[in-house]
Amino acid sequence: MIKRLLIPTRLRLEYLRRNAIDAKAAAASPPHVPVLLNTAIDYLDPVPGGIYFDMTFGAGGHTRRILEKCPEAKVYALDRDPVAHQLARQMSESEEYKGRLIPLLGKFSDIPKLFEEHGLAKNSVDGMLFDFGCSSMQFDEAVRGFSISKDGPLDMRMDGGQSGGVTAAEVLAHIEEGDLVKILRMYGEEKAAKKIARGLIDARNALFKIETTRELADIVENIMDGGIRKDKLRRPAHSATKTFQAIRIFVNNELNEINYGMVLANEILRVDGRLVTITFHSLEDTIVKRHINGNVVAGAANALPLKYSSYYTIDEPDMLESFIKKNWKQLHRHVIVPDAEEVARNTRSRSAKLRAAIKTN
Ligand SMILES: C[S@@+](CC[C@H](N)C(=O)[O-])C[C@H]1O[C@@H](n2cnc3c(N)ncnc32)[C@H](O)[C@@H]1O
Repeated sequence: MIKRLLIPTRLRLEYLRRNAIDAKAAAASPPHVPVLLNTAIDYLDPVPGGIYFDMTFGAGGHTRRILEKCPEAKVYALDRDPVAHQLARQMSESEEYKGRLIPLLGKFSDIPKLFEEHGLAKNSVDGMLFDFGCSSMQFDEAVRGFSISKDGPLDMRMDGGQSGGVTAAEVLAHIEEGDLVKILRMYGEEKAAKKIARGLIDARNALFKIETTRELADIVENIMDGGIRKDKLRRPAHSATKTFQAIRIFVNNELNEINYGMVLANEILRVDGRLVTITFHSLEDTIVKRHINGNVVAGAANALPLKYSSYYTIDEPDMLESFIKKNWKQLHRHVIVPDAEEVARNTRSRSAKLRAAIKTN
């Protein structure tokens, strides 16, 4: 069993203070470069008086563009990360965005509660944008514990521990070897899952608790006899990249959240409302694609059986039933990817895939 760690309020406040970002500075020099910005907003096609949900506010690049393009629209900006939320709050208090930007702190699965709090009705929202994964603010800040190249505490919680979840270090300290193999294989698509899991458990037994990102990267590098491997597209990647991805997805329950986010989109968008998603690896894209194609059966949308999801799993088969029929019309034939110029300018965009669909039913 994985223990839940409750972070004291004092530490949370300290974390927020240390990570505070100034909204004006962020507007002048964004800490995260938005991916497929123009294409995403073109497909979202905001209209005056329309209500939009930016489900992954981050540094607000997409939100800003929606409000620039359509000053009479309103954007509800969600993020589970308190640093991103603080930025959204600062923005919402400025003259420029007052009354047009409503910041929400929480995860996709908190939306039903937030919807009620804000008196919103189902089938009423004009557009929803999901730009999945982590922001550069999370990846680049060593203290957040996502980075292979910067040493920091092995944390990886997108919400910085606000809702108490387990850290990556705690997962590695308590997980059973068989479960770790499954997580590495399914969430990391790691072919050497068995070898890495064995090595990590050996390291844990023989040496110490794996507590920093550097320690995890070094141990995996040792297990794999080298630091660099080729990824799916034959590009060089650190040999621990897939391990980091798998543990991060597990810690943040990311695939269940995405699956739930797609269910929500169907619940809260109005007919003809628009859904735009940006995914960064095939596990994310597969979930979105299945929903858009109406190819979801209860229980099958999660990449892992719920047993292997982290502690706050989402298990609402009733909501999934509505997905057996197709409710979406995709607005393009092939999945949309960034052009060479964008990839050269922003390497993080290189694996991005955009899908846009209209709710038909
Ligand atoms: C790629 S960034 C978004 C960047 C943003 N579009 C921009 O232009 O700055 C993804 C953000 O989504 C947030 N996020 C990821 N999964 C989430 C979830 N299930 N619920 C709420 N926020 C989530 C992360 O904390 C992160 O800040």
